[in-house]
Amino acid sequence: MEVEAVREITGEIAEAFARLVPQLSSSGRAPGAAELAEIVAVPSTVLLVARVDGAIAGTATLVTYRTPTGVRGRIEDVVVDAGARGRGVGEALTEGALAEAGQRGVRSVDLTSRPSREAANRLYRRMGLVARDSVVYRHTTSTGHNT
Ligand SMILES: CC(C)(COP(=O)(O)OP(=O)(O)OC[C@H]1O[C@@H](n2cnc3c(N)ncnc32)[C@H](O)[C@@H]1OP(=O)(O)O)[C@@H](O)C(=O)NCCC(=O)NCCS
Repeated sequence: MEVEAVREITGEIAEAFARLVPQLSSSGRAPGAAELAEIVAVPSTVLLVARVDGAIAGTATLVTYRTPTGVRGRIEDVVVDAGARGRGVGEALTEGALAEAGQRGVRSVDLTSRPSREAANRLYRRMGLVARDSVVYRHTTSTGHNT
């Protein structure tokens, strides 16, 4: 298995996201090639894919940003194809994102995962990520869209 950063949006990449994003959230509309290109054009964001036998089996996104207290990272949109789960792909993607964050000198990397995402929570705890006692607040705008 290999984990790589996407640098260019090809038909293969667009097809993989069309397949993977609906497995992350039933409400998530898969991004088109133009939206994916927007992601990879931003140097502070890393779009990772994992390949098993050459085929794209999962993805994770690392976002890094500077605030007055330092450079921080967030891992978003971790998803592995249903047929490829339980074989360490999610772990490899998370490791890849943490390694990228380390190279970028971030102070900390956060991610959120609903308790109902049992496999994800089990994975992150097994990898040594520590649950923080913090409430996540959300404001949903009426004009925003998913992708
Ligand atoms: C979470 C997810 C990315 C993990 O991918 P993966 O490639 O299966 O991950 P790994 O093989 O590295 O590890 C999976 C772990 O979850 C466990 N697991 C798998 N299915 C599970 C389930 N239904 N309930 C509880 N644990 C489960 C596995 O046993 C393994 O843990 P273990 O090795 O300690 O036994 C994948 O399940 C997924 O895409 N889920 C849907 C989207 C999602 O929830 N994304 C996370 C958003 S925060």
